[in-house]
Amino acid sequence: MFERAVGIEAIHVHVPKHFLDLRALASANDVDEAKYLEGLGGRRMAVPAPHEDSVTMAASAAMGLFEHYDVSPEDIGMVIVGSESEVDGSKATAAWVHGMLHLPTRCRTFDVKHACYSGTAGLRLASTWCRAASPGGTNKALVIATDIARYEVGSPGEPTQGAGAVAMLVSDTPRLLALDPYPEALFTEDVMDFWRPTYRSSALVDGKTSIDSYLKALAHTFAEHERVSRLGFRDYDYLLFHVPFPKMAFKAFRMLYERDAIWRGDAPSLDADFERRTAPALEANRELGNLYSGSLYLSLAGLLNNRGARAESKRVGLFSYGSGCCAEFFSGRLGPQAGSWRGRIGIGSGISGRTELTYRQYLEIRKAGEALLNDSSYRLLDPGGDRRVSFMGIRRHQRIYEVSEVSKSRRKAVKA
Ligand code: COA
Repeated sequence: MFERAVGIEAIHVHVPKHFLDLRALASANDVDEAKYLEGLGGRRMAVPAPHEDSVTMAASAAMGLFEHYDVSPEDIGMVIVGSESEVDGSKATAAWVHGMLHLPTRCRTFDVKHACYSGTAGLRLASTWCRAASPGGTNKALVIATDIARYEVGSPGEPTQGAGAVAMLVSDTPRLLALDPYPEALFTEDVMDFWRPTYRSSALVDGKTSIDSYLKALAHTFAEHERVSRLGFRDYDYLLFHVPFPKMAFKAFRMLYERDAIWRGDAPSLDADFERRTAPALEANRELGNLYSGSLYLSLAGLLNNRGARAESKRVGLFSYGSGCCAEFFSGRLGPQAGSWRGRIGIGSGISGRTELTYRQYLEIRKAGEALLNDSSYRLLDPGGDRRVSFMGIRRHQRIYEVSEVSKSRRKAVKA
């Protein structure tokens, strides 16, 4: 039977304007900096400003997508937002994004949540919907993964924090990544490895359990995908993983490498293989930290940004893991001209335009942001700087957002 090709047509990353160098954090926490830089594999972490939240980051990523690619907002029939940093218990972030972008009213909008798996849930649902479009018709969906990874100050998770959003246009013109149409390779198990009670702003985690659960889910889903696709470890040009911290991608790669080496004698060295097939994707993760739902897709964007034309037409394996837990291994092929879009992804300009914070400024910004989470009194914030969309404050229990004039005029230019 004819299978319509579906996958990612366009991708854009929202990079928060502020960052903290992990060496400054190590010094403040009186920890050997090699633990954060080498033991966890990080370098810097994005710090969201008080007027940034999961809504502004999602909308900003989507606006960037429409600004940089020849895609019309009029074509969008579905918006799915994956997040575990929602700002409202009822209203969908997707509805806010829909309004800020003036998308068509004939559109389905909803959010999904399953820790860091939610972006993948959105991508896979949207792909199935695109594949099911009526003959001659086209379904296009906007899938956005948006999160703020926040742990207690001074906790083991603190150096793995991060923030950002990745917007993806999913359609039957998958010029960046065409997904392979194999049966799904899934794994779910009820486990308490990472959670955030609704009365808390920062996550709780049993770090060792989460690492064990991640690797167990990878073993299951990789074996299942291998069975249904007949693609083995060596058949992938690139292997991308969920990246709670960059060293985790190495642990994941190492597990698959060792499993493969049991029955093959001629393997390249582990380090060389990792440097060739996974490390090129991790540069952006090292700069932004953990994006929870978006971290796997930050790696995908990072791979395109880093390798450009050298990644074209290459086969990619992707492992998505959400604590709690749900996981999936799937695969696809990068487009024959995927490299030509690298300037539109937003990573290079986003990272080069950032401002470094001191440890004290990081604490102040964090405190101000957390105070706003539980403050329903109206206050007008000064967003400052060049932002597409800002959270301005709360009035009559409603969050007020402002879309910048620059974004409005850019959107008009795109529409004209
Ligand atoms: N120089 C170099 N490396 C060092 C070091 C030093 N001075 N000190 C420690 N390390 C290494 C450790 O050997 C370890 O590496 P390994 O795992 O390869 O053995 C790594 O740094 C981390 O050290 P560890 O003592 O295990 O850290 P921790 O107990 O402080 O916590 C996490 C690490 C990942 C559990 C913690 O950051 C966390 O809870 N993160 C959030 C949850 C998460 O990301 N889970 C992942 C699955 S979703």
